[in-house]
Amino acid sequence: MKNILITGGAGFIGSHVVRLFVNKYPEYQIYNLDKLTYAGNLENLKDIEQKPNYHFIKADICDFERVLQIFRDHKIEGVVHLAAESHVDRSIKDPFTFAKTNILGTLSLLQAAKECWKGNYEGKLFYHISTDEVYGALEADNPQGGSQSGGGPWGRDFFCEQTKYAPRSPYSASKASSDHFVRAFFDTYTLPTVITNCSNNFGPYQFPEKLIPLVINNIKHAKPIPVYGKGENVRDWLFVEDHARAIDIVFHSGQAGETYNIGGNNEWKNIDLIKQIIKITDRLLGNESGKSESLICFVTDRAGHDLRYAIDSSKLQDNLAWQPSSDFNAKLEETIRWYLDNEQWLNNITSGEYEKYYKQMYEER
Ligand code: NAD
Ligand code: TYD
Repeated sequence: MKNILITGGAGFIGSHVVRLFVNKYPEYQIYNLDKLTYAGNLENLKDIEQKPNYHFIKADICDFERVLQIFRDHKIEGVVHLAAESHVDRSIKDPFTFAKTNILGTLSLLQAAKECWKGNYEGKLFYHISTDEVYGALEADNPQGGSQSGGGPWGRDFFCEQTKYAPRSPYSASKASSDHFVRAFFDTYTLPTVITNCSNNFGPYQFPEKLIPLVINNIKHAKPIPVYGKGENVRDWLFVEDHARAIDIVFHSGQAGETYNIGGNNEWKNIDLIKQIIKITDRLLGNESGKSESLICFVTDRAGHDLRYAIDSSKLQDNLAWQPSSDFNAKLEETIRWYLDNEQWLNNITSGEYEKYYKQMYEER
């Protein structure tokens, strides 16, 4: 595969995947298809936008005719599909947009791949990036398991590839549906597909509506840190570059028709993680230790808030030799430093500047 379509490449995880593929595979042509919604920010890719093997296409994955034309024009052989609406709180307010982009957008890409490849599937792959949230929520019944200085486990059960789908939010319901369409195209048309379901990512370039960048930003500006409910919910955190590395491995070595779970083996209760972020950020800002804990503000819980996510990624580790980073605190500190050092990136988002500049540059064709 030489001509690769990466969707959602202007978003958080997509920008790391695009950067990795563009730098690591100069022999590939990388086409980044992105609609540039509020979550798409081409500043995330400033360092590679001049590379000869990188190409940006502003388009909506739901626009089937346009997507099909892109497949044909660029002789697309491989797809890494990340474009999605990704924030649970937004899905609670506006489920229609999630159904449209995540379900119909994925269907439009699958159908374009099928029509363009016409059964000639040699050297072709449709790789769909999904979430562990499709499996629903786990119990948190092992209070001895976790600690503030390290990841869990916070319960006995883990999501594995055989776990039944039981999505509980409009976001996870839309992602679950898209996963089912991907599998249906494998079973019905033998379209070569692969799916990975990953846990919560963190790292540079994450939109500051998500927990970790939001907490860092609020500490910096001495704003209240909203903790949903009692902060008892548990998430398994993975450094975004570990995810991008897993995507590279699965894209090149994963087996068609298979699903692989990706996780960090690193479960944190929200409140413990927030305190850990405060500890590191206060130190880096030269604040008195624990000063920003006074910013913690317990707020009304998210509706249907999933209690715990925890991933068993042994299939990927055993079959394709992938491992997550071992030192979470080092990666967390690296991430916090990045947000503190890249004030302009954050300010451009909070002021809306990022949308004006780049979105005018790329008019819809
Ligand atoms: P993000 O919200 O940061 O980025 C999404 C990107 O998709 C944006 O650039 C946006 O402009 C683009 N997009 C949205 N609608 C589009 C459309 N109709 N057409 C074309 N482009 C469109 O998301 P992210 O956090 O980088 O997540 C990327 C993928 O990984 C998603 O599919 C998400 O479900 C999945 N995922 C995310 C996490 C996580 O922790 N963030 C974990 C597991 C899986
Ligand atoms: P988030 O980053 O939105 O990811 P997801 O909902 O996909 O897991 O949230 C991570 C956890 O942090 C989740 O349990 C909700 C919680 N949370 C807060 O307590 N306060 C906040 O302001 C946000 C955005 C999230």
